[in-house]
Amino acid sequence: MERLDKIIANLGYGSRKEVKAFVKKGLIEVDGVIVKDNGINVDPENVSIKINGEEILYRKYIYLMMNKPAGVISATHDSRDETVIDLLEVDHQAFNPFPVGRLDKDTVGLLLLTNDGDLNHRLIAPKWHVDKVYYAKINKNVDENDQKAFKEGIVLDDGYKCLEAKLDIISSAEEESEVKITIQEGKFHQIKRMFEALNKQVVYLKREEFGGLPLDIELEEGEYRELTENELALLKSY
Ligand code: URA
Repeated sequence: MERLDKIIANLGYGSRKEVKAFVKKGLIEVDGVIVKDNGINVDPENVSIKINGEEILYRKYIYLMMNKPAGVISATHDSRDETVIDLLEVDHQAFNPFPVGRLDKDTVGLLLLTNDGDLNHRLIAPKWHVDKVYYAKINKNVDENDQKAFKEGIVLDDGYKCLEAKLDIISSAEEESEVKITIQEGKFHQIKRMFEALNKQVVYLKREEFGGLPLDIELEEGEYRELTENELALLKSY
């Protein structure tokens, strides 16, 4: 059971004060009965709530896929920089979503956002082996020795030995190489630090896939959409 005004406000239909005003005007119905008290408790899963005759779609959780642009922070608040939450519409912000894991400020690509803490936990815990696939540009040649090092587990600057990771070479040249990397963990600056351990630098990084879910190519950088039921089912299968 939850307070009716809180349920409606959390779904993005207005502030608690505005909801109170709707009640006063007789615009809110629960199971066909006009509500007189905005403080009543109801079970949102089991009642029909209407605002001005229109049934509202109750949901506790939202699941979003964003193509994160460079220059924004993967956090809910930041005192200086714009965050990925600032890019969401107010209706989506009302759910208090947070990013699933982090991408660096200069990294672009697939970022999931949700307010479902359980799913978030399962997707970021290394023990579930959720693959994350990145496309990267590297400032030097990349060769079989690098691939072997990724497979064996690269040791980072702090002594941490990474899990086995996959390095696919798209093209290799002295000035710049293109690669795909598949990792199952998400340590701080992990891919950049993996290449630094090989004396190379990542000059561009984009996440293309998360848990078998590819970034929707229709999404421009900075755009997002809700996950489809099938996409969500895929993530929940972990
Ligand atoms: N590895 C990095 O170095 N940065 C990211 O944003 C993601 C993975």
